Amino acid sequence: MRVDFFRHNITAADRKALERTLKGLFISTGDEVGEFEKKFANYLGVPYAVGVTSATAGLHLALEAFGIGKGDEVITTPMTFIATANSILHTGAHSVFVDVERDTGNIDANLIEKAITKKTKAIMPVHLYGQLCDMTAIKKIARAHKLKIIEDAAHSVEAKRDGVGVGQLGDAAAFSFYATKNMTSGEGGAISVQSAKITKYLRQSRIHGMSKDAAERFGKKFSHYDMHILGWKYNMSNIQASLLLNQIDRVEKNLKMRERVWKMYLKELAGVEGVSFPVIREGSRSALHLFTVQVAPKKRDKVLWKLEAAKIGVAVNFRPVHTMTYYKKNLGLKRGMFPNAEAIGDSVITLPFYPTLKLPAVKYVCDSLKKALKST
Ligand SMILES: Cc1ncc(COP(=O)(O)O)c(C=O)c1O
Repeated sequence: MRVDFFRHNITAADRKALERTLKGLFISTGDEVGEFEKKFANYLGVPYAVGVTSATAGLHLALEAFGIGKGDEVITTPMTFIATANSILHTGAHSVFVDVERDTGNIDANLIEKAITKKTKAIMPVHLYGQLCDMTAIKKIARAHKLKIIEDAAHSVEAKRDGVGVGQLGDAAAFSFYATKNMTSGEGGAISVQSAKITKYLRQSRIHGMSKDAAERFGKKFSHYDMHILGWKYNMSNIQASLLLNQIDRVEKNLKMRERVWKMYLKELAGVEGVSFPVIREGSRSALHLFTVQVAPKKRDKVLWKLEAAKIGVAVNFRPVHTMTYYKKNLGLKRGMFPNAEAIGDSVITLPFYPTLKLPAVKYVCDSLKKALKST
């Protein structure tokens, strides 16, 4: 048997929507992007959404839109993909890490206040594997210290916790539609936003700061565009938007299917010695983006290789950012600074996980994992 790490479920309806776009005039940013933004914001229960090319672009643009740059500090965690911290560095600001909760991998809200300095401008919580951080606690801290919250929501379109949805307490949240995400257009992203003014800024800064995009200029009496702000080239295309539009309608159904596969894994791995799982908190509805297990650090890489040899797609989410050479060299970081993130990073294995994964495949992955653990 072979079990791929991920399989998208782009359907005939998605392909049809894409074909309609391809038959039209505008394949870059236009009506479909506008339609997607409205529908996505509505699904999330937030006032606005802005389509961009990736979550990385979304995090970067959101930071800039709030005026964060050189000399500023942004608090985040090292238990994330490098994109999170890189987006902070791209603005010229400094990424300040605090450790995560050992059992969830999410930022430990109790450690945030100690990391706040006069230079702190924002908190960037990462909703790891699809579970929201303690946003109620983080919001309280942000209010008290007048900080912005920019959520890294790359894993968490469907997430809710304590009655609050992703993006609802943050000033902005960045979502990813990368190839393996719960909703995908191959590459893509969106920013959810609370403020109309910031939304307007983002719609310009995602396309060089131009006052009008091509579709807005088309069909009217010729008029020149202007540039008021220095922007980037991060605009979502109609191609991406048309692939995503129908996926919003399926996201809840897919989450139910994810839940089913999740439970299959938990059942197959229940009581297996040497395997543990991240915890999902009471009152939390995870987007169930990645299914991870943790094993003894000295066995981890060998087990990974054995699973690969059994034709099973695996990954490591994540080796902590502060252990990456660039961060060690340029930010003076080293192992030992964030023990919980390191403990997760040393022991985690991500197993194949997607809504259409079937029981025989889950059984094969779990049997292979048990066998690999026994023989390592
Ligand atoms: C936690 C996290 N943040 C940000 C990103 C970046 O997303 P994108 O590839 O859309 O830029 C990823 C990508 O996998 C991620 O896992």
